[in-house]
Amino acid sequence: MTPAVPKFFIQTFGCQMNEHDSFRMSEILKHCGFEATDCPSQADVILINTCSVRRNPQNKVFSLLGQLRRLKKSRPNLIIGVAGCVAQQEGENILRCERAVDMVFGPDHYFRLPEILERVRKGERVVLTNRTDDIYERVDNFIPDNWLEAGHVEGCKAYVVIMKGCNNFCAFCVVPHTRGREVCREPQNILREIKTAVEKGAKEVWLLGQNVNSYRAHGMTFYNLLDEVSQIDGLLRVRFTSSHPKDWDNTLSDLMAERPTICNQLHLPLQSGSNRILDLMNRRHTIEEYLEKIRYLKNRLHDIELSTDIIVGFPTETEEDFEATLRVLEEVRYSQVFSFKYSPRPNTRAAEMPDDIPQKVKEERLQRLIHLQEKINGEQIQSYIGTVQSVLIDGSHLRDSRIKNGRTEGYRPVKIRDAGLKVGDLVNVRITGFENHWLEGVLQ
Ligand code: 5AD
Ligand code: SF4
Repeated sequence: MTPAVPKFFIQTFGCQMNEHDSFRMSEILKHCGFEATDCPSQADVILINTCSVRRNPQNKVFSLLGQLRRLKKSRPNLIIGVAGCVAQQEGENILRCERAVDMVFGPDHYFRLPEILERVRKGERVVLTNRTDDIYERVDNFIPDNWLEAGHVEGCKAYVVIMKGCNNFCAFCVVPHTRGREVCREPQNILREIKTAVEKGAKEVWLLGQNVNSYRAHGMTFYNLLDEVSQIDGLLRVRFTSSHPKDWDNTLSDLMAERPTICNQLHLPLQSGSNRILDLMNRRHTIEEYLEKIRYLKNRLHDIELSTDIIVGFPTETEEDFEATLRVLEEVRYSQVFSFKYSPRPNTRAAEMPDDIPQKVKEERLQRLIHLQEKINGEQIQSYIGTVQSVLIDGSHLRDSRIKNGRTEGYRPVKIRDAGLKVGDLVNVRITGFENHWLEGVLQ
């Protein structure tokens, strides 16, 4: 009888960068002879890739660890690991609080998984959270050469990290503390990974980083990189996230307008529409500067779709401050707004301020904001009916495989009833209706 292949299960919380890291970890585990499973109770290794950007996801990690402790009682050989930002932040504490955990490692260490697993098998409980944070403006090939070709391709989309970490220290944000200072990836590595992904069938690439606009390596700026990537043969679409409004430059809007491959979509986190709050948040731009950049972009690209992040209930936020945020939503008319109630995070500057907005007020502001955005989005989605959109097919409907899913250039989801379509097809679709946030259409 052949021995059973060991299995792993990864639970991911948080942003696209974490999704990317989980993908890389699963590739490493497969390389070590493991097989993926969707069922934690069948796994020999369980990894939780954590997010600490807000309090909620962090709490979920600890309740999940409680459940896993019970699973481990019935299966003592199970290996449990905590990766990502909570791991980086809490380190040893996790081992102390949770007997069931065998390994804790920050986002800089996942390439050492084979070695970490080996040490755990020998009986060690491993913590790897060390990092040198004192060097600014670093350029590095932070994906080892032997993993370069195993890029993150899912269906027709490739996700490529161009930089990691952040030097901005927004007052509310834990990222510079968990992911460390900015490190930009060697441009040649980035371009090679994208070209390999295209050879493997990728049609769309996402350039990922905490603050992609501050990319700089050997004199190459984000503008230069985007310029090169947008001209790679065979690549149909380019997207990138996240951008910082203070670093967004109108020349980037020009490039987006000139290059058909760069999608008409931009995520530009605002956080607040009040200059006083923006200043307290250390965002280092005014609302006037933000709106000026948006107006320029809309002027260059009439069908641009914008999305943003908003925090409600930041310390000292008044009703007037909040109303200023609502006014920006009215003016910009985003396609999507990711809104959050402020929660203090360890080591951040805002954590030293009194968290003085009552939960009830935060909740009420959040609901008002969501309500306004629903109204705006409802009007926007209506205006799509009758238009023809270019749609990249990226999957099938969960319950009916005859219905295909795709995205417009502006990143709106579309359902098309046409069984003949394949993942990676770029087609023109006439929009005939919508259901919730989904557009519906027929092939043109
Ligand atoms: N409280 C609430 N929301 C936060 N975000 C980041 N830190 C906090 C916090 N302490 C939000 C911001 C950011 C998004 C990823 O999460 O809006 O852009
Ligand atoms: Fe956090 Fe600000 Fe950096 Fe974004 S730019 S990761 S919000 S510190």
